[in-house]
Amino acid sequence: MIVITAPTGQIGRQLVEIIVGSGEPVRLITREPSRLPARIREQVDVVQGSHGDREVVSRAFAGADALFWLVPPDPTAQSLESAYLGFSAPACEAIERCGVRHVVGVSALGRGTALASRAGLVTASLAMDDMIANTGVSYRALANPSFMDNLLRQVPSICGEGLFRLPLDGDRKHPTCATRDIAAAAAKLLLDRSWSGRADVPVLGPEDLSCNDMAAILTEVLGWPVRFQQVPLKAFEDGLGARGMSPAFARGYAEMFAAKDSGLDDAEPRTPANSTPISFRHWCESVLKPAILGTRDQPAAARQER
Ligand SMILES: NC(=O)c1ccc[n+]([C@@H]2O[C@H](COP(=O)([O-])OP(=O)(O)OC[C@H]3O[C@@H](n4cnc5c(N)ncnc54)[C@H](OP(=O)(O)O)[C@@H]3O)[C@@H](O)[C@H]2O)c1
Repeated sequence: MIVITAPTGQIGRQLVEIIVGSGEPVRLITREPSRLPARIREQVDVVQGSHGDREVVSRAFAGADALFWLVPPDPTAQSLESAYLGFSAPACEAIERCGVRHVVGVSALGRGTALASRAGLVTASLAMDDMIANTGVSYRALANPSFMDNLLRQVPSICGEGLFRLPLDGDRKHPTCATRDIAAAAAKLLLDRSWSGRADVPVLGPEDLSCNDMAAILTEVLGWPVRFQQVPLKAFEDGLGARGMSPAFARGYAEMFAAKDSGLDDAEPRTPANSTPISFRHWCESVLKPAILGTRDQPAAARQER
């Protein structure tokens, strides 16, 4: 039995598509089963509730061999420790109590670097990995750079102003990966459980790109000019707070981006095993552009260009 958390999320829903139909029994933990496609609901066991809840994980992990673990971002959390460690604590107890043998968790790059201890959300993710591994379960942490899919949140400004913004140096190259590749890496580990002990599994994408490189690719794929604009870190943090994020989470994002701009994601050498296939150009063509074409408003930047 494989248990999957956050099955309606970006990674979770793509993972479910791969695992369901593999022949392994699957159990999904979700707050709202009606958000699952009907065809999926028919093929799986569903435990309703939050995977941060003690009673829910106790029920869900009974008889489970393997677990996919993803902490949902909680922008209202009063501390990163409560968001990552507090949320994962009931699951860690249940992993031990129920005898779950293998866990694959969604985490971040940076372990072993000097920046890892002051990298906001990443520091909290790495502490969560330690907490899960300390239960004695066999554990693989998917060590991810920033997701390409984060750019979907900037579709309005890409379309309206021909612009995307981050608190990063526009010329500094970083790895980035598609959530589809993270789901594929998770599925591979969950379906072939011939591994044991603890390790990180980096998911590096096929190339390092700067934000200016990305803007050039966006321009080519979308057919109108797209620029990158670096936001000062303080303005970025204040903007998150103004949009309702808790001070602890806004600070955590700012610290994380500061660490990424100082090389947090750049320590892991790219190898054939950890360079995942989906390029940023392919992601733009297959995910971003269809998402934009599916929006009702004609992009203003596109109208100006034509
Ligand atoms: N974005 C990045 O660049 C990046 C990089 C490295 C690591 N990460 C890590 O990736 C994870 C986020 O992955 P994602 O983008 O795939 O997540 P996501 O799409 O935001 O999905 C999270 C899911 O969790 C569910 N959820 C929300 N609040 C919940 C709660 N309180 N209890 C139970 N379920 C809840 C939501 O489903 P329902 O509303 O249907 O319940 C949602 O579908 C985080 O742990 C983050 O630290 C992100």
